[in-house]
Amino acid sequence: MLLWLRVFSVLGLGVWGDSPWDATRAKRMSEGLRYLFGNITQLIEKGKLGVNDISTVVSRKEWGVEAVGCGTHLTSPVNFLVTHHVPGLECHNQTVCSQRLRELQAHHVHNNSWCDVAYNFLVGDDGRVYEGIGWDIQGMHTQGYNNISLGFAFFGTKEGHSPSPAALSAMEGLISSAVRKGHLSSLYVQPLLVKGEDCLAPLQKASPKKACPYIVPRSDWEARETHCPKMNLPAKYVIIIHTSGRVCNMSDECRLLVQDIQSLLMDRFNSCDIGYNFLVGQDGVLYEGVGWNVQGSHTAGYNDIALGIAFMGTFSGTPPNAAALEAAQNLIQCAVDEGYLDPNYLLVAQSDLIKTLSPGQALYNIISSWPHFKH
Ligand SMILES: *[C@@H]1O[C@H](CO)[C@@H](O)[C@H](O)[C@H]1NC(C)=O
Ligand SMILES: *[C@@H]1O[C@H](CO)[C@@H](O)[C@H](O)[C@H]1NC(C)=O
Ligand SMILES: *[C@@H]1O[C@H](CO)[C@@H](O)[C@H](O)[C@H]1NC(C)=O
Ligand SMILES: *[C@@H]1O[C@H](CO)[C@@H](O)[C@H](O)[C@H]1NC(C)=O
Ligand SMILES: *[C@@H]1O[C@H](CO)[C@@H](O)[C@H](O)[C@H]1NC(C)=O
Repeated sequence: MLLWLRVFSVLGLGVWGDSPWDATRAKRMSEGLRYLFGNITQLIEKGKLGVNDISTVVSRKEWGVEAVGCGTHLTSPVNFLVTHHVPGLECHNQTVCSQRLRELQAHHVHNNSWCDVAYNFLVGDDGRVYEGIGWDIQGMHTQGYNNISLGFAFFGTKEGHSPSPAALSAMEGLISSAVRKGHLSSLYVQPLLVKGEDCLAPLQKASPKKACPYIVPRSDWEARETHCPKMNLPAKYVIIIHTSGRVCNMSDECRLLVQDIQSLLMDRFNSCDIGYNFLVGQDGVLYEGVGWNVQGSHTAGYNDIALGIAFMGTFSGTPPNAAALEAAQNLIQCAVDEGYLDPNYLLVAQSDLIKTLSPGQALYNIISSWPHFKH
C-alpha cells in the first residue's frame, strides 16, 4: 500500500532563509532531501517503527521559548505527517540546538510575522526532540496542510547529508509515539519527497524534447460544461486506470464513448465531470477529460495531486494495444516537459491506491515496467 507515500516537494525554503527561489539551490536541496527521506523510508520499511519511543524531549521552557504562541487548535488524530529539514540550523548539542531554535522562532515570529515557530516538533543531530508548538496547536509549515498534519523538522541537515543516526532514531521515536498517543492516525500519509531516482530505468535517453501528442479537445467530443475544482500543479502522481466498460477503436466511436462516460459519471455517479484527466482509446488517440488544470474524481485522496489517465475498456485479460500504450506514455512525457507533472512523479496503478480491479491485470503487468512505477 502507498498510504504513507503521498508525495509533496517539501522544501524547507521560504520557512528559513529568505533568499529568492533559485533553481540550482532548489535542485541541490531536493537531492539532499531525497537522500534524507530515503533514510527515513528505509527506517519505516524496515518495520522498525513502533519499537522506539522518544528518548528525550526538550520542552519549550527548557530551550528558552519566547513568550508568544499560536492558539489555533489542531484536532487529533491528524492524517498527515510532513517532514522538513531546516537548512542553516546545524547543531550537535542541546546548548547549540536550543540557541538555534530560539533564532528560528525569532525569525518566524519577527520576520515572517507568524505566531510562533512553524513546526510541531524538531529533531536535532544530538538525538533530542525539541518541542516546537507541540501536539495540539496548528503549525505554519506547509500551506494547505497545517490544520490536518503534524510538521516535524530536522535541524539543519547539510545538503547532501543524512541526519545523524541519533537524529533519525529520534525521528522514528517521535513518529511512533505520535501514533501511539493518538496524535497521528496509524494510517497516516507521509508526504515524502520522491525517493528512487536511483531505481529508475537509465534516465530516459536524454532525447530532445518530443512534441506533445495530439489530444482531442473537449469541444470535439462535445463535452458538457462544468465547474470543478482546480488541480494542484505540478501533479505528483500519474494514476493508471481502466474504465472497465466497452472498448472503442475508431475515432467516431471513441468520441461517442467519451461522451457516454461523461454522462454516466455525472448523471449516475454525481461526479463533477468525466472524472479522468485524460482518456485513451484503442484508436491510439488521447481524449481530453477534465484536462491538466482541473481535478478528476477518480481516486479519493489523490485527485488534486494526481493525473488520472484512463484507458477506455477492460484490460484484465488482454492489454491495450501498442498504439494506446504509446499514446499514454507520450502524454506522460509531455506532462513532465510542459511542467504539469513533477519530474520525480510516481506512476501507480489505481488498484495500488484503492480497492478496485482497475486498471486490470494485463495492463498492470505492462505499466509495472514503465519508468517511475511504484508498487
Ligand atoms: C556544543 O557544541 C558547540 C559547537 O559545536 C561547542 O562549542 C560547545 O562546547 C558544545 N557544548 C557542550 C556543552 O558540549
Ligand atoms: C529579520 O528581522 C530583523 C529585525 O527586524 C532584521 O534585523 C533581520 O535582518 C531580518 N532577517 C532577515 C533574514 O530578513
Ligand atoms: C483546514 O482548512 C481548510 C482551508 O481553510 C478547510 O477547508 C478545511 O475544512 C480545514 N480542515 C479541518 C480538518 O479543519
Ligand atoms: C542513509 O542512506 C544512505 C543511502 O542509502 C546510507 O549510505 C547511509 O548510511 C544512511 N544513513 C543512515 C544514518 O542510516
Ligand atoms: C474494434 O472493436 C470491436 C469491438 O467494439 C471489435 O470487435 C473489433 O475487432 C475491433 N477492431 C479492431 C481492428 O481492433
